[in-house]
Amino acid sequence: MTGQFIVFEGVEGSGKSSQLEQTAQWLLAGGLGNRVEVVKTREPGGTDLGKQLRSLLLNQQEFDLNDCSELLLYAADRAQHVNQFLKPQLAQGKIILCDRYIDSTTAYQGYGRGLDLDLIQQLNQIASCGLESDLTLWLDLPVETGLARVQQRGKRNRIEQADIAFHQRVRQGYMTLAQQFPHRIIPIDATGTPQQVQQQIQTILCHHLNVK
Ligand code: TYD
Repeated sequence: MTGQFIVFEGVEGSGKSSQLEQTAQWLLAGGLGNRVEVVKTREPGGTDLGKQLRSLLLNQQEFDLNDCSELLLYAADRAQHVNQFLKPQLAQGKIILCDRYIDSTTAYQGYGRGLDLDLIQQLNQIASCGLESDLTLWLDLPVETGLARVQQRGKRNRIEQADIAFHQRVRQGYMTLAQQFPHRIIPIDATGTPQQVQQQIQTILCHHLNVK
C-alpha cells in the first residue's frame, strides 16, 4: 500500500486526539485486515522546531501575539512538519494520522480571527508545499458541547480561552470547507459516545483505504 495522509479536524473538545489514538490502535491491531505501518503526529508541534512554536502559540505569554504573527507561526510549523516529517514518512509508505492540518488555519485564523481567506489559501499552499491530505475526518459537534468538555479537563490554552463567538465562526468555517471540498473532507457526527464515533471512523477508513 502507498502512504496515506489522514487528518483529524474539529473544534475544541471534539474528541479528535482520543479518536486518533483509538484509530491508530485499531489499525495496528489489523483493523484493515492487513499489516500496516502507522505514525501519529500533530500540528502545531510535529517536529523539534514545532514543539517550540507550539509552546509560543498555545501557552499564555507575556507578549500579546498579533493575529498575523500567529498565522505565520502556524505556517512555519507546517513547513517544517511537511518537509521534515510528513513527506519522508509518506515516501516510506506509512499511514499518517495527523491531529490538525491546513483546514485548521482556514477555520481558526481565517473564519475565527477574520484574516483574509485568499491570503490564507496562498500561505497554506506555500507552507504545505502543495501536500494535501488523502482524507480529512472532520469531527463535528456544537461548540457549547465541545467547550464544556474542555472545561472539565481543567486548564485551557490561549486559543481555547477565546470567546464563544470565535469558536462559532471556527465551526462555520469547517462547515463551509466541508461543502467546498466534499471529496476530501468527511463530516463525522461527534456528539455520540466515543465508541459510536470510532465506529463511524473505522467504516470510513475501511472504505477509503481498501478501495484505493
Ligand atoms: P490541539 O492540539 O487540538 O489542542 P489540544 O491538544 O489542547 O486540544 O490544537 C492546538 C490549537 O491550535 C487549537 O486551539 C487550534 C489551534 N490551531 C490554529 O489556530 N491554527 C492552526 O493552523 C492549527 C494547526 C491549530
